[in-house]
Amino acid sequence: MNREFALDLNGKQTKVDTDAERSLLDVLREDLGLTGTKYGCGEGECGACTVLLDGRAVRSCVTSVAEAVGAKIETIEGLADGEKLQSVQQAFIEDSALQCGYCVPGQIMTATALLRRTPRPSREQIVAAMDGNLCRCCNYMNILAAVERAAGAR
Ligand code: FES
Ligand code: FES
Repeated sequence: MNREFALDLNGKQTKVDTDAERSLLDVLREDLGLTGTKYGCGEGECGACTVLLDGRAVRSCVTSVAEAVGAKIETIEGLADGEKLQSVQQAFIEDSALQCGYCVPGQIMTATALLRRTPRPSREQIVAAMDGNLCRCCNYMNILAAVERAAGAR
């Protein structure tokens, strides 16, 4: 049964009328038109659908819309300040950390969560944090370089 949910989404209060069991990913993409967050496996295994809830990287494909109520939700669309890209986004461009680009929103959201809680991570901490975000283009070295650049390590 549908009901109305109030979401704090990219700094704006947003209302959506939907079933409580629907995934946050489906609601973002299908109801709210935020297609930057990608559908990969649908099982919490690939990281393509990563968004931030109160600064924590979560898999939106296995998070219900009801679970997101009350949290500050951030998607890839909310990172840039107008035309000015956020530091991780800019680093991904500078280090060519995208090939097909499909995994990139999820990679950037995971890296953003890491750098907010650990602004100067070691390479090992970056690898550990990014480990669950898969890239079917196997562009891992460039992704690692980009996160290190955004952290100011390069
Ligand atoms: S689509 Fe959510 S983890 Fe793969
Ligand atoms: S750049 Fe193609 S899936 Fe990562």
